[in-house]
Amino acid sequence: LPPADNGTTSHPNGTLQQFPQIIIIGVRKGGTRALIEMLSLHSTVVAAQNEVHFFDWESHFQKGLSWYLSQMPYTFPEQLTVEKTPAYFTSSKVPKRIFQMNPNIKLLLILRDPTERVLSDYTQVFYNRLQKHKRYQPIESVLVKDGEINLGYKALNRSLYYTHMQNWLQYFPMESIHVVDGDRLIKDPLPEMKKVERFLKLEPQINASNFYFNKTKGFYCLRDHGRERCLHDSKGRAHPHVAPAILQKLYQFFHQPNKKFFELVGRTFNWN
Ligand code: A3P
Repeated sequence: LPPADNGTTSHPNGTLQQFPQIIIIGVRKGGTRALIEMLSLHSTVVAAQNEVHFFDWESHFQKGLSWYLSQMPYTFPEQLTVEKTPAYFTSSKVPKRIFQMNPNIKLLLILRDPTERVLSDYTQVFYNRLQKHKRYQPIESVLVKDGEINLGYKALNRSLYYTHMQNWLQYFPMESIHVVDGDRLIKDPLPEMKKVERFLKLEPQINASNFYFNKTKGFYCLRDHGRERCLHDSKGRAHPHVAPAILQKLYQFFHQPNKKFFELVGRTFNWN
């Protein structure tokens, strides 16, 4: 395919591959798939199908920006491209790399109660292992060590939003980052998506008819030009039961970091 003047690759029917103008940077298990699917309801936005892992995986990053571009969907020139790679948020080398590609890029970050996120993270790994016919320790033995919260458990670190957010704010102003409330997106997606449209300066298009509550799934599903679909079964799974005393310890563990995060972003969230 012939390269166009702006470094993009053009295609005979007038479509081209563009670098994303929007990236969903995380957080893992925050609701990133729901967010990108809901954003794709908008006619201006086209999403990359897979998680690209360009800025966080060295083997991909080494292939350079032309490889990154080749991973993007074909769009009309006036459309916007979005990709999501939830691991970007917690990878400290990523903010600088994205900044060097495009300092004006718009970043979406979807967060969820840090404790809920840990349980969701555990559940994800549990099922990944099950698929490979491997066992995983019960949740409580992962969470607790010698009667205290097990600080060696990696999923806890991913929920320390304050730490990761600081890295991003070294490169991007708060105006470039919109935080989506993942707990609210679950309960009532439309208001959260209207805010996303506004942040991206998109013509308001997403509306109530785009969502319907599916009682069997227990989550909202999407309606797009009359076609109805829910997210994959791996989205919206039941979490393991955790003893209330351990949950309390987790809430306590996140209490200070959460407060610091609220101060950092100038906004509070309804987290435990
Ligand atoms: P759980 O499966 O733990 O409930 P991600 O796509 O970043 O991996 O996030 C997965 C989470 O998205 C799910 O976590 C689920 O809670 C949340 N989610 C938000 N809206 C959803 C929807 N409409 N359908 C299914 N899951 C949704």
